[in-house]
Amino acid sequence: MKNHLEQLRTQTLETIAKAKTVQELEALEAQLLGKKGELTTLLKGIKDLTVEEKQVVGKMTNELKKDVEAALLCRSEELRSSQYDHLKDQFFDTSLPGTRPHPGRLHPLTKFIREIEDTFMALNFTVAEGPEIEDDYHNFSALNIPEDHPARDMQDTLWAKHIPYLLRTHTSPVQIRYMESHEPPIRIICPGRVFRKDDVDATHSPMFHQFEGLMVDKTTNLTHLKGILTIALRRLIHPDLELRFRSSFFPFVEPGLEVDVTCVLCAGKGCSVCKQSGWLEMLGCGMVHPNVLKSAGLDPNVYQGFAFGAGIERLLMIKHKINDIRLFYENDPRFLEQFPLV
Ligand code: DAH
Repeated sequence: MKNHLEQLRTQTLETIAKAKTVQELEALEAQLLGKKGELTTLLKGIKDLTVEEKQVVGKMTNELKKDVEAALLCRSEELRSSQYDHLKDQFFDTSLPGTRPHPGRLHPLTKFIREIEDTFMALNFTVAEGPEIEDDYHNFSALNIPEDHPARDMQDTLWAKHIPYLLRTHTSPVQIRYMESHEPPIRIICPGRVFRKDDVDATHSPMFHQFEGLMVDKTTNLTHLKGILTIALRRLIHPDLELRFRSSFFPFVEPGLEVDVTCVLCAGKGCSVCKQSGWLEMLGCGMVHPNVLKSAGLDPNVYQGFAFGAGIERLLMIKHKINDIRLFYENDPRFLEQFPLV
């Protein structure tokens, strides 16, 4: 028995020392010290021995168990500490910065809309909103757009199944809604989405953004319009921007004007984008038509005001020399990441 135990001890300790992986060691531990393990069985057998045998064999078995446990622990520590040994030959620079998380950012259009709002709020304007699903009256009739105007055509407007509803074709109906519910003095801008039955190309999209401006009081006039637009557009696009007001026509203003700005691509010298003119068309504006004031419940003999409406994508395209409107909606990170984070 003594010999057997000695033999078992040498064998076991050797096997433990030779174990190559933690898993191998764990299997060995189960084989020796598990419920039906070799050592466990031996220990259980002690109770059947004579008193004299117990003194010698019992002591030896218990010592063997302790030594085996110690050997297992020792080998397991060795194995664990050497499991990364293969990396020792590789250079690992612990001072390298980690991989940065990719933070999201506001869409350039969202950011620009906020800049527009800040710019006009600094000029004492407030931000107003209106519904994207409009009715015929606010989108057309109240804005002095006659029944036979081409904009009312099925070809140009996205009509709802339930007439007179439609997707607003411009932000101008917000003017009417605001005047219906507010007394002058009025100073608002209304940014928002508008919809047109257009085919998609580099400059057209069936959904895009506009912002409308409206200022109404007793003496509001064209010089106010010119001053406000000059300050705002210089702040939004370029501090050296020059504005040119050309007479034009929109049913809801009289006189109607179009504003051109210095071509940012050639700084007004003339290039292919501005067709050598040095100017780019920027927005429509004018003095609110008396019929429009009347439809909104204001007396045109007491009040007068100006209005303007501009395409937000177009402004951003001019500002950043972007040549395709589709880039705004495709959400290609290579495009979006060219805009600053904040
Ligand atoms: N609503 C016009 C459009 O969508 C833009 C516009 C022109 C708005 C002149 C105005 C304005 O307020 O006075 O094309």
